[in-house]
Amino acid sequence: MTFDLDIKSTVRTIRDYPKKGILFRDITTLLADARAFRRAVDELVHPWAGSKVDKVAGIEARGFILGGAVAHQLSAGFVPIRKKGKLPHTTVRIAYSLEYGIDEMEMHADAVQPGERVILVDDLIATGGTAEGAVKLLRQIGANVVAACFIVDLPDLGGAAKLRAMNVPVRTLMAFE
Ligand code: PRP
Ligand code: ADE
Repeated sequence: MTFDLDIKSTVRTIRDYPKKGILFRDITTLLADARAFRRAVDELVHPWAGSKVDKVAGIEARGFILGGAVAHQLSAGFVPIRKKGKLPHTTVRIAYSLEYGIDEMEMHADAVQPGERVILVDDLIATGGTAEGAVKLLRQIGANVVAACFIVDLPDLGGAAKLRAMNVPVRTLMAFE
């Protein structure tokens, strides 16, 4: 479900960043607006308030900011999913592609116990390559991925549909066509 909240106007659009042809949806302006930031976090967690969530997994880098706030609100632990080479202990790793490039991400192999209920959080879903990689990593170590939440959806790029096809319920707060 996508809600076009009034917080949409706090997201700034930058043309041709980081590559020519990309309309970059910059959420730093939303984060800097106290009311919009609170509203976004409240809306993201709303369906799971009072239900059992063991861990929130946030994707580097913008997913860390939101994921930490969401984990705090749900009284859940936080698990970082990082670009390769940044985590000190034994990891699981996967290559992935996104709207403007390719990369590898990893997480600690012991960050989630088998069967734990995990919500994935990031700022934005575009092609879904990043989130798909994150879900695969979480499932590889036995997580039960109960949902994925994003502030921004770029529906034309098909990412949310890709996640739903993997049986992951998706929550987004606004869309840019
Ligand atoms: C952005 C965004 C998502 C990803 C979405 O991150 O924060 O993680 O792209 O794209 P996709 O749906 O096409 O995979 P980016 O890789 O730019 O990293 P950053 O947060 O470190 O800037
Ligand atoms: N990640 C992938 N595509 C993006 C976009 N258009 N704006 C911001 N972050 C993105």
